[in-house]
Amino acid sequence: MSTTDPAFPALHGRPDQGWINDPNGCTYVDGTHHVFFQLNPDAPTHGNIHWGHATSTDLVRWTQQPIALFPRIGAADAAGVWSGVIALDGDVPTAYYTGIAETEHDSQVMTATSNRALLEWKQEQHGIVGMPEEPNIGDVRDPFLFTFNGSQYAIQGAGYKDGTPVILLYRCHTMTQWEYLGPLVTGGAGVAAEWAPAQIWECPQLFRVDGQWVLMLSLWNLDNHDLDRVTYLTGELSEGGAGLKFLPTGGGLIDDGPDFYAPQVVASTAAEPRTLMWGWSWEKSRPEADIHASGWAGVLTYARELSFRDGALVSAPVAEVDTLRAALMSDGAETFTVPVQTRAFEVLAAGVAELVLVDGGSERVVARITAGRILVDGSLIEIFAAGGTARTIRAYPTATSRFEVRGEVVVNALAL
Ligand code: FRU
Repeated sequence: MSTTDPAFPALHGRPDQGWINDPNGCTYVDGTHHVFFQLNPDAPTHGNIHWGHATSTDLVRWTQQPIALFPRIGAADAAGVWSGVIALDGDVPTAYYTGIAETEHDSQVMTATSNRALLEWKQEQHGIVGMPEEPNIGDVRDPFLFTFNGSQYAIQGAGYKDGTPVILLYRCHTMTQWEYLGPLVTGGAGVAAEWAPAQIWECPQLFRVDGQWVLMLSLWNLDNHDLDRVTYLTGELSEGGAGLKFLPTGGGLIDDGPDFYAPQVVASTAAEPRTLMWGWSWEKSRPEADIHASGWAGVLTYARELSFRDGALVSAPVAEVDTLRAALMSDGAETFTVPVQTRAFEVLAAGVAELVLVDGGSERVVARITAGRILVDGSLIEIFAAGGTARTIRAYPTATSRFEVRGEVVVNALAL
């Protein structure tokens, strides 16, 4: 099935079968990186969502762990264990996730606790906070925790019924006693509307990088195929308003490709000083029949490191990705046909380069760059321009197609 599917991104640490979407609960504990993810283990379609779990000590070699969180019949997460984060409550690792009982219009923040290996999870029966008592709020999901001036806060993504996106703010009196304070930021006008047009802001991430506050937002946008792009707002976070206010002053795109969504960020700490990010890449451009035949859908990107460059938030694959280099395949040839058995490779270009998928007489230019790096793993293509822009796209190799690289480039095979 999937492992013989030439489109399967074998280096990206996803299970062989089933559907995955958002990264969840990304965390670094006792020398191990943990990435959880939205998972339907039974079919390559979104439904019956669990939290899958993978671990790595080097950010590139991943081990699948047992499923961590399950939807439970009769509980407030019966229809799905949707996205969220992991944080310490005292010294107890705790998952804060979106419990869906019946429909996405009625959600609760639910918790589960684990041992430090993050392998033995116990889901609580009841949620810690439900929908706010504001009749005009339509959807609420994706809790995220942060501290400001020594106090603990949480936010959730949300949308008003009139189609305006909003971030809801909570004060955490304890890690499980949350008080709804009101909106932290609202879309629909000004800088937020310019950079983050949406009906719902999903998966908000609020963190500091290079001394600046960043609010990262996944844009759920009915005008644009439901799930759209991921943008960020920069701005001032200060005490005031309902408790805190975030005044957006600028923004930008996190990834300018069509196939990147719902990233999760791990803010820098003493133990892992980089600001890390994983995103979800979907199969929107793959024919349904091929998805069902292969049995898998969705993949997380390589871990990327975030930083500001010339005032813009940019990302680059973590340095550990370099350790996947297995063999130099081409150095300077004008046109290089990637051998069919090489499913993962890297293109390093100092000038103009093209990645082309050739099948019989037809060809498609998948990517064209002027200086930068292209990482290909099956159908997942991650492009990092020398200027700092990241672009995630998909192109599906088949049994008969070949990737061709054009331009004066270095091509390396990648392998675990
Ligand atoms: C983003 C998202 C989240 C939600 C999850 C459900 O892709 O829609 O808002 O929690 O996926 O799987």
